[in-house]
Amino acid sequence: MTVVAIDGPAGSGKSTIAAVLAERLGVVHVDTGAYYRAGTLAVLRSGIDLRDGPACARIIGEVTIERRAGRTLLDGVDVEDDIRGPEVTATVSAVAAHPAVRAGLLAAQRAVVSPAGAVVEGRDAGTVVVPDADLKVWLTASPLERAARRAAQLGTAESNAIAIHADSIERRDADDASQMLRSTDAVEIDTTGVAVDEIVARLVRLAQRAGAAGERA
Ligand code: DC
Repeated sequence: MTVVAIDGPAGSGKSTIAAVLAERLGVVHVDTGAYYRAGTLAVLRSGIDLRDGPACARIIGEVTIERRAGRTLLDGVDVEDDIRGPEVTATVSAVAAHPAVRAGLLAAQRAVVSPAGAVVEGRDAGTVVVPDADLKVWLTASPLERAARRAAQLGTAESNAIAIHADSIERRDADDASQMLRSTDAVEIDTTGVAVDEIVARLVRLAQRAGAAGERA
């Protein structure tokens, strides 16, 4: 069993790298951000006040959030596109900041870590979700690269669009600061200008070494 925790700010390359790494290792990919996004969508649809933590947690506790083949299901319906849209992206930090919301979603995230292992990705994977992970990774990237990736995801590479994304990514970093918990034993990797395959190959080696050390211990 190999459990890898990958954390870092928005646009650091977590999702892409975690998905490819999970496939290489043959384990499940747990995208914890998707749970916060789907929970936020449920809250938005309910019309309740996002600032009301207990009410947000109650709404989220009443829905079912699942991940299947890289897609996110809310009460059995595919909401993958909705949860990546601007409305959820602009409000998810506020909902994710409520301790009661985090407690509820933590249980759902841990439940999908399979006995065979997992690559768990988010902001607090290495510190809260799977603190006993064999390998903990903290990804970074330059602000410009993070903004360019976000713009590319949304289908544009114009410089003014990149500047707008740089601004909103900076704002989200600030909003997520209290949830962004870097583990002291995480390996830091700067993904700026480095190919995904190269990073994944390095992580596979690190994970195998960490897994083997864990089995010996
Ligand atoms: O990884 P992402 O950008 O899809 O995450 C969406 C939001 O969810 C992010 O702004 C912060 C929050 N989040 C969190 O608070 N804790 C996590 N483990 C993962 C995400």
